[in-house]
Amino acid sequence: MFSFRTNQHSRVNNTKGNMAETITIEVARYRPEQETNPCFQEFQVPFTQDWVVLDALNYIKDKLDGSLSFRWSCRMGVCGSCGMTVNGEPKLTCATFLSHYQKGPIRVEPLKNFPVVRDLVIEMSDFLDKLQRVKPWIIEEDDTAPMEAEYLQTPEQLDKYKQFSMCINCMICYSACPVYGLDSDFIGPAAIALAQRYNLDSRDHGKEERLDILSQHEGIWDCTFVGECTKVCPKNVDPAGAIQQYKLEATKEWFKAFLKPWSKK
Ligand code: FES
Repeated sequence: MFSFRTNQHSRVNNTKGNMAETITIEVARYRPEQETNPCFQEFQVPFTQDWVVLDALNYIKDKLDGSLSFRWSCRMGVCGSCGMTVNGEPKLTCATFLSHYQKGPIRVEPLKNFPVVRDLVIEMSDFLDKLQRVKPWIIEEDDTAPMEAEYLQTPEQLDKYKQFSMCINCMICYSACPVYGLDSDFIGPAAIALAQRYNLDSRDHGKEERLDILSQHEGIWDCTFVGECTKVCPKNVDPAGAIQQYKLEATKEWFKAFLKPWSKK
């Protein structure tokens, strides 16, 4: 994890000397060709009640320093790309209002627990690898079935997995997870919640394949149920709940295999 130092201050950018209220944004900067260690840079941006932190970052990029790097796309809490650490907490910056922090300052850093590529941009490949390992897609019983076949579901069947399907892969739960912070081999909250989303889907037949992956040491058993992942999730997905469900399931399967070793899992 980086330790930051403050070494730069930008000029206040009140337009034409007017008295517009501004708020200080302290932004973590890391430009590998320029700095060996990350540092903070301060900017003054207009304080506007309906602005979110992402608006402030876009103002900085458009008006004050075009070299600032960060990810975003939808600006409506859907794409999951704008996750950053805001005053120490992992947040979607498009859903975090400046007014929540009153007069500031607001400190914006990259999500914790991930390597930083540049400024506020983190390296995502570890998460993407893990996501793929848990097979977050419908696995059909018969993979020769025609693709155009219709798979009907009742509202009750949909309700079973709907909560877990709200995950937007923002990685905020990984940033808050102390277990992932200590052991990056841990498959982690979002990937497990997504695996559970497909396990609970009446159209899916991949539960056993996923359990084989998730019952390994770095799967569900690494979780010590701190519960931070659930607290910080901007979509109320409850990854901690998914992990506990999985532990119960894995224990039942283990007992079944122990008592009836001849039976299929
Ligand atoms: Fe898409 Fe924030 S920009 S979730």
